[in-house]
Amino acid sequence: MTKEYDQHSQVAPQHPVRLPLVLWADRDIPPTQAEQLANRLQAPLVWNKPSGSSLVLRMDKNGLALGLIGAALSRYMLHADFERMLPRLKPGQLNRELLIRAARIRHKQEAEPLLAVDATAGLGEDALLLAAAGFEVQLCEHNPIIAALLKDGLRRAKGHPELATICARMHLQPGNSIDFLQQLQIEPDLILLDPMFPPRQKSAKVKKKLQLLQMVEQPCANEKALVQAALAARPRKLVIKRPRKGPPLAGTSPSYSLTGKAIRFDCMLVRS
Ligand SMILES: C[S@@+](CC[C@H](N)C(=O)[O-])C[C@H]1O[C@@H](n2cnc3c(N)ncnc32)[C@H](O)[C@@H]1O
Repeated sequence: MTKEYDQHSQVAPQHPVRLPLVLWADRDIPPTQAEQLANRLQAPLVWNKPSGSSLVLRMDKNGLALGLIGAALSRYMLHADFERMLPRLKPGQLNRELLIRAARIRHKQEAEPLLAVDATAGLGEDALLLAAAGFEVQLCEHNPIIAALLKDGLRRAKGHPELATICARMHLQPGNSIDFLQQLQIEPDLILLDPMFPPRQKSAKVKKKLQLLQMVEQPCANEKALVQAALAARPRKLVIKRPRKGPPLAGTSPSYSLTGKAIRFDCMLVRS
């Protein structure tokens, strides 16, 4: 099996370290661009490497990346990296992805693309798989730091020859997906929920990527409202990503589940 959803192979530490965020822009970046982002994130803007320990959003010619300065993770910078996903997008591989198998829906009108809402977009990896499989995807992300990283990843991918067509089907909606789903004018074919997994009693060595994400985002606190909004939007199918042995999200009763090595997809058939 391919390395699907490796970000979930570990669990959240119980007490994530939180540091204030600093936007560290390279001197080549136009000041107005850096200032706009700093205002949006309400983060101080600096043009030199911060001293001491800080959580930084680095803005340079390569795009936007999140990292820790002056700490164990300091060489690691996290950015939305769709290029790394390319091997998983090859047709033979893509159809083996657990998500794509879980998202399978009979396509009644081949001319019309299927519409998916990724209501917990994160860095957009699941959404990219869905877009590669032909879905038109609305990506909702409420965390402004994660949304900024995702926006930057999509911008770069749209200039990449192998990713441009796929990413043209990905539409970012920064903000709360509960509001987005309540205002949706059409019934989507698919809704995907992948809220941050809750902490487990036993702490585990968490991957660097997940460690950084947990510094800016808490485990989901509104699971029930998220599920209710998703069901009220009447998708043909609701797909929920869970830890392999975790309980169903907010007491849902899946129609069926697909289980992989570390994760499981609970699928609910909502309408035909
Ligand atoms: C585990 S991550 C999703 C990872 C994603 N599936 C991927 O492939 O990169 C969960 C994300 O959902 C976001 N989120 C949680 N609740 C949300 C809500 N109500 N509206 C929008 N985003 C939400 C969090 O900020 C977090 O970035």
